[in-house]
Amino acid sequence: MLFVTVLLEVIWIHAADGGQHWTYEGPHGQDDWPASYPECGGNAQSPIDIQTDAATFNPELPALQPHGYEQPGTEPLDLHNNGHTVQLSLPPSLYLEGFPRRYVTAQLHLHWGQQGSPGGSEHQINSEATAAELHIVHYDSDSYATLSEAADKPHGLAVLGILIEVGETKNSAYEHILSHLHEIRHKDQKTSVPPFNLRELLPPQMGQFFRYNGSLTTPPCYQSVLWTVFNQRVQISRDQLKKLQETLFSTEDPSELLAQNHRAPQPLNQRKVLASFIQEGTAEFTTGEMLGLGVGILVGCLCLLLAVYLIARKIRKKRLRNQKSVVFTSARAATEA
Ligand SMILES: *[C@@H]1O[C@H](CO)[C@@H](O)[C@H](O)[C@H]1NC(C)=O
Ligand SMILES: [Zn+2]
Repeated sequence: MLFVTVLLEVIWIHAADGGQHWTYEGPHGQDDWPASYPECGGNAQSPIDIQTDAATFNPELPALQPHGYEQPGTEPLDLHNNGHTVQLSLPPSLYLEGFPRRYVTAQLHLHWGQQGSPGGSEHQINSEATAAELHIVHYDSDSYATLSEAADKPHGLAVLGILIEVGETKNSAYEHILSHLHEIRHKDQKTSVPPFNLRELLPPQMGQFFRYNGSLTTPPCYQSVLWTVFNQRVQISRDQLKKLQETLFSTEDPSELLAQNHRAPQPLNQRKVLASFIQEGTAEFTTGEMLGLGVGILVGCLCLLLAVYLIARKIRKKRLRNQKSVVFTSARAATEA
């Protein structure tokens, strides 16, 4: 009886996630995801390469305000190696302000590269990847009871993307996660982590962000995500990055290192990327406006040249006339004398 229950459960779990094993590289790699998970071949996929000069400044984007992040309850939080990433479960008491509906937290997880190869983040800004990326996953709790109910619905999810780069000092907020990785080295292992201030995982200034409509970056790639990618990055130390890259295994027996778990940027297609801010030095003038300005300056210069020429000619004529009259007067004076 127990056996049958377990068997049914296994079948059910496989049916729920499409039933297909997936990886980033190799025979079940990202190019083959659409074969088993059709939505991965959709036209609004994530991540993307954000081109800042093509992003549209929108002054009406409301500021993002995380609530409850400083104190996510008193219960320990589950930290889980699921074979694809390290994931921290979060209670629905944390939520985001800045959307038409309330989005509460469900989990956060990371994406990273591998020792000796650049990159590791999923999103890029102006074709530049960083070493890693944090995703904090929220769902619309006004409309749906659970994350899985919201996950395949339009605008069901809101995910924050935080780009992580290497800096000089150890990041103590990220250390709350990284210091436990050795307890969950193998796939399906779990541990618990004392609650800590999650606000400190975010960039200090949250005012500059990009917003676009996209998808989960892993199968089944549902196109249900309101993405927010912060312009400001956070930093972890080189040692911390190394720990992230070299501690976890994607398998139950220690054979495959869990690394390079980042999807390549996807085509933007017809989508718009909004920016909450004006970029420095760009986006003030479009190419057309620059061309107009150039022609304006040229015409202005020509007019000025013409004006100078005309004035110069007038002065010369006047001087000639004066000279003539001097000659005439002195000639008359001579005859009269
Ligand atoms: C996302 O899609 C909705 C329509 O489904 C649209 O109203 C909204 O403006 C889009 N957001 C962005 C950032 O393009
Ligand atoms: Zn992710």
